[in-house]
Amino acid sequence: MAPDALHVPLLRPVPVVPGLDQSLRFLADPYRFIARECHRLGSDVVLARLMLQPTLCLTGPGAAELFYDCTRVRRAGLVPEPKRAGLFGGYAVPTSGGDPHPSRMRFIVATSGPLAAAALVTRALREWDRLLPHWCARPRLVLYGAAQEWLARTACAWAGIPLARDEVGSRTAQLAALFDPPAGGLAAHLRARLARRDAETWLARLVQDHRRQWVFTEDSPAAAAAELVDSQGGQRLPARLAAAELLNLLRPIVAVSVFVALAAHALHRHPGWRDSLADGEDGDLEAFVQEVRRFYPFFPAVPGQVRREFVWEGWHFPQGARVMLDLYGTNHDARAWPQPHEFRPERFFGAVPGLFDFVPHGGRAEDGPRGPGEGLTLALMKLALRQLALHLRYQVPAQDLDLRMDRPPALPRDRFVVERLVPI
Ligand code: HEM
Repeated sequence: MAPDALHVPLLRPVPVVPGLDQSLRFLADPYRFIARECHRLGSDVVLARLMLQPTLCLTGPGAAELFYDCTRVRRAGLVPEPKRAGLFGGYAVPTSGGDPHPSRMRFIVATSGPLAAAALVTRALREWDRLLPHWCARPRLVLYGAAQEWLARTACAWAGIPLARDEVGSRTAQLAALFDPPAGGLAAHLRARLARRDAETWLARLVQDHRRQWVFTEDSPAAAAAELVDSQGGQRLPARLAAAELLNLLRPIVAVSVFVALAAHALHRHPGWRDSLADGEDGDLEAFVQEVRRFYPFFPAVPGQVRREFVWEGWHFPQGARVMLDLYGTNHDARAWPQPHEFRPERFFGAVPGLFDFVPHGGRAEDGPRGPGEGLTLALMKLALRQLALHLRYQVPAQDLDLRMDRPPALPRDRFVVERLVPI
C-alpha cells in the first residue's frame, strides 16, 4: 500500500479562493493577498488562480519549511522571464533544488562570505564619506536615490569594475531599473528587460577587454568572474554569462537601497530608537535592521513546483502543481511573531528567529544556502543605519510617507526626502 493511502480518510479539500482568476487582486496587493485569503478561509494553504494557472498559495512557518523541503518542492527555473529581468531573481546560479553548478556556486559563496562582506563595508564607508559633502551641499535630497548611487559606486568599486565619473548616473539608473523600473505594468517588464540587456552588454564588453588586457582590479570579484569556467570545467564562460554573474552581484547590492530608505523611514517613525542607537552598540543596530527586514515589505512571495505528489497536514499536493510561498505574510505570522504589525526591534534581543519564521531572503533548502546575500545586506544596512543615526543630522520635511503596497518594492511615495543634512 502506498504510504499516502494511509492518509486518505484524513484528506481535506484545499479551500479555493472564489472567482475565475485572482491575478488582478494579487497584483493590486501582492504582499497581503495570500495571508488575507488564507486567514479568510482558515487555512495555511489555499488554491488561487494566478496568471490563469492554479496555484497552491502557502503561508506561515510550517508551510515555509515544507516549501524549502527540496524533496517535495522544486525551485529551479520557475521565475518567468519578464520577472527574472526584474526584482524577482534572475540569478545565474541555479536556485535551490536544481542541479548544482559548482563553479558558479563557489563564485557566489566566495563573494558573499565574511571577508567579502568586510571588504564591501570598507568600500561602502569610503564611498559614503566621498558623497557626504555633496549631499550636505544640496537643499534637499531624495534618500532612496542617493542610496542607489552610493551603492552602485560601492558595488562597482568592490567588484573591481571601473566606473568613469560621467558614467555613474546612467549606470546607477540602469542597475536600479532592474529591481525598480520607473514604469508600472507591462512597461515595467520591458524596461527591466532592456535595462538588463544594456547592463549585460556593458559588462560583457568589459569582460572581453579584461581577457585581452587587464581591466578589472586584481583578485577582485570581477576578475574572478571573467575567469569562471563552464560546468564541464573546460572552457571559460562566454563573456555574456560572466557578465550575468557580475550583474547578479551588482543588482542586489544596489537593491539594498530599498532597505536604506526603509530604515530611515523606521527611524523617523520611531524617533526613540535614535537615542537607543546613539551608543553604537552592535546588538541594537543588529536588532533594528533585522526588524526592518521583518516588518517592511520587499519580496512578496516566491514560486515553486511540486516534485512528486504528497500529503501535508491532510492536504493533497499533486505532482507538478504550482506553489507560491508568502514571504511577507510569513514574516508577519502571529504564531511566530507576537504583535506582528508593530515595529519592535527588541523582539530580536538575544533571540534567534526560527529558520522558517523569518524569510525576507527566503528559507534554507538542504541543498542550498538561504539567501546568500543576507550577510552582505545586513552589513550594508548596519553601516547605513549607523551613519544615519549616529553621524548625520537631517530634517524630514512634510511629504507622503505612506508605503506603496501595490508595487514591489514597496517604498514611501516620495522616496524619503531629507533636508539640511549636517554631519556630526
Ligand atoms: C536587498 C536585499 C535582498 C533581499 C530582500 C533578497 C532576497 C532574496 C530572495 C527572496 C531570494 C529568493 C530565495 C528563494 O528563492 O527562496 C534571493 C535569492 C538570492 N539572492 Fe538575494 N536578496 C537581497 C540581497 C542580495 C545580495 C546583496 C546578494 C549578493 C550580492 C544576493 C544574492 C542572492 C542570490 C545569489 C540568490 C539566489 C539563490 C538561489 O537561487 O539559491 N541577494 N534573495
